[in-house]
Amino acid sequence: MRRIVRTLARAGFYTHRPSFRAILITGASSGIGAALARFYAAPHRTLMLWGRDEARLGEVAEACRAGGATVLTRSVDLADGVAALDAFREDDAATPFDLVALSAGLGDMKRASDQVERAESVFKLGVVNYATPAALTMAAAERMKERGGGSIGLIGSAGAFHDVPFAAGYGGSKAGLARFASSARIALAPFGVQITLIAPGFVDTAMSRKLVGPRPFLVSADDAARRIAKALAVGRAELVFPWPFRLLRRIDQITPRPIGDALMRRLKADQKA
Ligand SMILES: NC(=O)c1ccc[n+]([C@@H]2O[C@H](COP(=O)([O-])OP(=O)(O)OC[C@H]3O[C@@H](n4cnc5c(N)ncnc54)[C@H](OP(=O)(O)O)[C@@H]3O)[C@@H](O)[C@H]2O)c1
Repeated sequence: MRRIVRTLARAGFYTHRPSFRAILITGASSGIGAALARFYAAPHRTLMLWGRDEARLGEVAEACRAGGATVLTRSVDLADGVAALDAFREDDAATPFDLVALSAGLGDMKRASDQVERAESVFKLGVVNYATPAALTMAAAERMKERGGGSIGLIGSAGAFHDVPFAAGYGGSKAGLARFASSARIALAPFGVQITLIAPGFVDTAMSRKLVGPRPFLVSADDAARRIAKALAVGRAELVFPWPFRLLRRIDQITPRPIGDALMRRLKADQKA
């Protein structure tokens, strides 16, 4: 069976992995990552949960243990990419992961009282949302390749498909992640390593609750987790949800730049401190 899967994968077909046995989830202490952890919590499954806030991570771990999973946790700050790579290699050596779900991310943007986005914030967004997840993807791919395959889910954002003037740092970091995911997907498919880019619209989590103003087409974290798990199970290349964000992306692609720029300039947003 493994040989068939590997041959199909080498030929460029998706690897169908309906059930994962060992899963690493980053950002498992909150929001989408925590919902994914709860979704996957089941007997005969090992979950390695990463986060920073140990109290919240512990609560999620307890809920997952109650679901029957074997749960391990680690406190990792993705702002330190080298430490994150070391931690990944140590954890993967102990528990070879067949799914790595990179959900951790930072949301930040220009406040209404600022004229320009803060330089330090833009730097941190680039590291936490793009550089470290991209490096972790390659570290995971390197090891999965030796084992004949695996799946990696990168949580980007539907915001990556638009030129959002008050969130250039966030949008840029997620756009980089999207291009990284689509390129890495092609490169890694021959090794049976499936890359899935997840691009959510608004999900009801701590991150989006910081925004001042409407959150159109909002979905719950549990709903998001179900959709993400389904996409990962069938090895989709990309999942953009909910559907209005797929439509908005298409509209953006065909809108002449001067009109798009004028519309974007009219958008106003702020976030709570
Ligand atoms: N919510 C939305 O509307 C929305 C929309 C599009 C995309 N997304 C993306 O979805 C992903 C999950 O976000 P969420 O909505 O679930 O937000 P959330 O509830 O704020 O959770 C963010 C998670 O990322 C972790 N994290 C943040 N900075 C970190 C760092 N430096 N090192 C390690 N972990 C870090 C947090 O850990 P601690 O809490 O332990 O610090 C937390 O577990 C993010 O990549 C986000 O960009 C969210």
